[in-house]
Amino acid sequence: MRILVTGGAGFIGASVVRALVAAGHHVRVLDALLPAVHPTGNPPALPAGVDFRRGDVRDAETVEEALAGVDAVCHQAAMVGLGLDLQDAPHYVGCNDLGTAVVLAAMARSGVRRLVLAGSMVVYGEGRYHCAEHGEVAPGPRRPADLDAGRFEPPCPVCGAPLRPGLVAESAPADPRSVYAVTKLAQEHLSAAWARACGGTALTLRYHNVYGPGMPRDTPYAGVASLFRSALARGEAPRVFEDGRQRRDFVHVEDVAAANLAALTAVGDRPPGSVRAYNVGSGEVRTIGEMAAALAAAHGGPAPTVTGEYRLGDVRHITADSNRLRAELDWLPRVPFDRGMAEFAAAPLRV
Ligand SMILES: NC(=O)c1ccc[n+]([C@@H]2O[C@H](COP(=O)([O-])OP(=O)(O)OC[C@H]3O[C@@H](n4cnc5c(N)ncnc54)[C@H](O)[C@@H]3O)[C@@H](O)[C@H]2O)c1
Repeated sequence: MRILVTGGAGFIGASVVRALVAAGHHVRVLDALLPAVHPTGNPPALPAGVDFRRGDVRDAETVEEALAGVDAVCHQAAMVGLGLDLQDAPHYVGCNDLGTAVVLAAMARSGVRRLVLAGSMVVYGEGRYHCAEHGEVAPGPRRPADLDAGRFEPPCPVCGAPLRPGLVAESAPADPRSVYAVTKLAQEHLSAAWARACGGTALTLRYHNVYGPGMPRDTPYAGVASLFRSALARGEAPRVFEDGRQRRDFVHVEDVAAANLAALTAVGDRPPGSVRAYNVGSGEVRTIGEMAAALAAAHGGPAPTVTGEYRLGDVRHITADSNRLRAELDWLPRVPFDRGMAEFAAAPLRV
């Protein structure tokens, strides 16, 4: 296939490009090289034969040119991160939602009917929890007073009892908690509207915490694994927020790239007008504290410090049930946590 990868110069996009080229596909990249994530202004090294175009997905003419001769779009371009500053909201909405709308409108005009979208687990908000008395519950945002007092676990929203965290499935209702999360959910809804309107098919891959070589260095927008890795490279202890027992699913970037390859292979066989979402997680539940400790140990120290600080908008636990992806797209994660983190501790970060 001839595939357009938007955001193909990014951490995940570049890995997707390598996987697609290795599988024999022809790849074109459209990436604006956002200065916040590409301070040097240079794209990463991409495999020979990749048609790299610097351009913005918000620009209809640029997108339409990039779609010429393309069979499928793999839409990775987005502004990422928690979006701590509300002043960033217009930029998030512009890159992520206006950008997606421009891409979809251009696909409708160009007759491109296959879309794989980079989604995110942030659309779920807090993960799912079980209350001994009230069954499955979805707690609301945690209160600053509780967080200040070190009460990090969200209680049952009905009776206040302690909860047991579980795995989140694709059927869980959306509950986005940040501007970024809202934009990722809107991307999914826009894609569904596009699919219905023009008989396209869209598969959304809701990535959990992606890590691996090529991750950006610490910026306000970087993932936690990159923050810890950057601290260790400076000889500093990783600073672990809350009590370090926040549960996450860390999935290796090469496994995420393989999921994109599987989705692009499958998307053409789906009925016109259909959409489907898939969690992309390793299936290994780990805590932030365990991740910091694994990286620090592999790096040769220093050991992490648990600070008790918190960020409003962070969720306590979010871990994936990725069985749908395994069953329907024949995907299996290949990189176990211990090996992946040991390699990541030594791998270069993106400049
Ligand atoms: N990293 C994670 O853990 C994670 C988790 C869930 C979802 N995702 C999603 O995966 C995708 C890739 O994320 P990443 O971690 O590789 O981020 P990244 O910042 O490394 O890559 C994103 C790329 O998109 C480009 N881009 C942004 N806005 C653009 C625009 N308007 N026009 C053209 N290019 C633009 C950037 O220049 C960058 O190269 C995003 O859609 C993100 O929401 C990432």
